[in-house]
Order: sequence, then C-alpha cells, then structure tokens
Amino acid sequence: MGESILGVSSQTAKRIADRVGTPVYVYNAELIRSQFACLKEALGDIPHRVFYSVKANSSLAILDQIRLLGAGVDIVSEGELVRSLRAGFAPGDIVFSGVGKSAGELTRAISTRIGLVNVESSGELSLLQQLAEDAGMECNVGIRVNPDVVTTSHPYIRTGHEGLKFGVSLTEVATLSARVSSHPLLRLRSIGMHIGSQITDPQPYREAAARLARVVRDLGGGAGDLEFVSVGGGIGIQYTDEQPLSASDFVTAIRPLWETLRLPIAVEPGRFLVGNSGCLLTTCLYTKGSGNTGFVVVDAGMNTFLRPSLYGAKHAIRVVSPSVEREVVDPFAKVHVVGPICESGDTFGVYAGLAGAGPGALLALLGVGAYGFSMSSTYNSRPRPPEVLVDGAEWYVIRDGETLEDLTRGERLPPGAQVDRAAGQ
Ligand code: LLP
Repeated sequence: MGESILGVSSQTAKRIADRVGTPVYVYNAELIRSQFACLKEALGDIPHRVFYSVKANSSLAILDQIRLLGAGVDIVSEGELVRSLRAGFAPGDIVFSGVGKSAGELTRAISTRIGLVNVESSGELSLLQQLAEDAGMECNVGIRVNPDVVTTSHPYIRTGHEGLKFGVSLTEVATLSARVSSHPLLRLRSIGMHIGSQITDPQPYREAAARLARVVRDLGGGAGDLEFVSVGGGIGIQYTDEQPLSASDFVTAIRPLWETLRLPIAVEPGRFLVGNSGCLLTTCLYTKGSGNTGFVVVDAGMNTFLRPSLYGAKHAIRVVSPSVEREVVDPFAKVHVVGPICESGDTFGVYAGLAGAGPGALLALLGVGAYGFSMSSTYNSRPRPPEVLVDGAEWYVIRDGETLEDLTRGERLPPGAQVDRAAGQ
C-alpha cells in the first residue's frame, strides 16, 4: 500500500478513485516534464524543434503542459488542430501530417496559417496548391518521405517501409520539391519522415537518417529554404521488460543527419513524452474460473484501453489496494485480467503476482499515458472515463467522465417512432 504508482502515492491514487470513481486515467505532470527535459538534454547542441504528436494524448490539459515546455505540435486532423489552438498553441507552432487530409482540413490549415503542411502524396500536393490559389494565401509545405526501412515494432505501428500507405518514395522527392519550389504560394520548409512507433532499436533510425540526408543533399539548391529536417517520432519506451531506446541512443542514431546537412532537426515524440506518465485505475469486480483458467474481471476494458486487444501489448499491473473479501488471487497464481466487454479479446493479458486482487481491489494498469484515452471508445455503450492530472501535491480532474446522457447525444429516432418515455428514462 506504501508503494507509488508512476510517482503517485497509493494513498493519492486511492483518494482519486474514491472521489472520481473508476475507471479513471491519472497522469503525473512531473513525469512529462522530466521526459521532455531528458530529450532536450540528449539533443544538446543540435539545433532542434520538438513537435509533440497530439494523437498520443490530446487532452487539453496535457497539451497545455506540453505548450508550457516550449514545444510545438504535430497534428493529423482538423479536430487536433482545434484542440491545439484551444490549448493555446500559436498556429506557427503546428505541423499537419497524415495521409488523408480532406479539402476542408487543408483549407482550414491554410487559412489558419499553421507552421506547415506535410504532404504525403502527389495528389495531396495538387489539392493543396489549388486550395492555396483559391484562398490567395501562402502555405509552408513539408514533404514526408518513406525511407523504406523496417522496424521491429508491431506490424500495425510500422510506417517507414515500401508497401505501406505513408509518405512518398525517395525517388519522388525531387519532383515534388521542384513543384513546391516553383509555385508562387508554396514554400518548402521541411523534408521529413516518421518510420514507426515504439522503436527500441536505433538501427532503423540510423539507416533512415542516412537515406534522408542523401535525398536532401541530392536536392542541392532545389531544397530551397528548408527550416528543418524531421526525423518523426517513435522512440520506444519500457512497458514491462523491453529494453527501451534511450534518448541519447536515439540522438546518436540521428546525429549524422545534422552533421551532413547542418539543418535543425525536428522531432515528433508522442509516447516518449507521455506514455509512462499515466496509469489507469480500475476496480476489480469479480474473480472467477473457467476450466484451469482464472479470471480477474475489472471495470476497465478494451473500450477504455485498447492497446492490449489491438496489438497484444503488455502493460504492467499493480495492486494499489487489496480486496478485503475472501475471493482474492493468491500471489503465485496466473490470472487473466479481463474487462466487461462482450468479446474474448477484451483482455489485458495474463499476470502473476496480483496478490490481493479480488472484489473491490483497486488495480493500476501502467504506461497508459499515450494512446490510452485517445483511443478509447464507447463500445458496449459504456461512457468514456474521466481523467486526472497530478502535479506535486495537487490533483485536478482535467476531464469529466462521460454521462449516460452523452452516449445518445445527437442521436434521434426516426420520425413517428413510438417511445415509451417512462421505460427509456
Ligand atoms: N509523427 C507522426 C507523423 C506519427 O504518425 C506519429 C504516430 C508520431 C509522430 C508519434 O509517434 P510516437 O512517438 O508516439 O511513437 N496507437 C499506436 C501508435 C500509433 C502511432 C501513430 N503515429 C500504439 O498505441 O502503439
């Protein structure tokens, strides 16, 4: 009970759960700040810009923390643009990535005068050009290259090799950059890449950085007035027993890019900054058995936190406060920790050492600060959970949990449908 959960004392965690209810996401602001400092320190003398990848955790209070640290943001939708502006980011500190930006989204990006739009296809560049002309406004452009390197992370989160939808091939870069440079309203500001996520081996970064350096160098004067080259995000963190990629090993891998080109480096970390700042507090509802398999059923599921179901990701679980009932897990038992969703894939995996897990116990799933709440859903019509930010001795609810009323917001029955109102309440 005395142990701390990602820097939050068990007592505070218990108090939050009692006050706000479970499941609840809890983030520690100090850990976000220390990760940011660690990355800055590793980048050291390399001139750089940090653009936080909003999709990792797009809650306004988290964006506010990131903004206070002096970073910009990497966004992938108009929704993330609106969030970033609402959190106070200057338009010039926003870069817009993604393979499928709509005309509406590009128009909004142009009229907002964001830092730059990273184009990912020839077709997108044509549309951007047309929309800039329609608006009679200039637009800064980046080109996202697919450097064709394979990472060892889960196939769903690899983005840097041929055959995937991301970026343009190395051979297309010269044509696209010539098109940008010759257009009166477009300015080429960046050439970059993003090779994948949860990368724990520096080798793909080293290889991709070398390819990126070559392609930019070969452009010569055609590269125009680049502000920076971007190495994307993807730095892998430690969830359970993996060897994470240290910030300094990451920087060592990409440093030759700076040494070859003498252009500032942009980095787009998401998970590295926020992943290990967050835990998900969840209450154990029941324990049960089926054949030789033991289950701990908790009130968070794949709707609350999807990574284990989607990628088979393993996240550590701690017992924050044990059950006072008798049906508790013995310390040596292996149990499946599962959620309430009606799918067998709704599982956080098999765990040993969950002594004291039983009805009423409070558990914490760790490393959920990135791609946790931002990938949650209301599947099975379960409202999304609240979020809390701990900062030193203080904690704040930074998002209310959704209500049952929220679940049907914007829905309507067909005209003339008969509803027994009393039954529906
Ligand atoms: N830049 C771009 C263009 C990206 O698409 C991404 C993530 C990042 C930066 C940040 O990557 P990070 O530093 O967080 O690895 N839902 C998956 C991860 C998908 C990442 C998508 N792109 C997961 O839960 O593992």
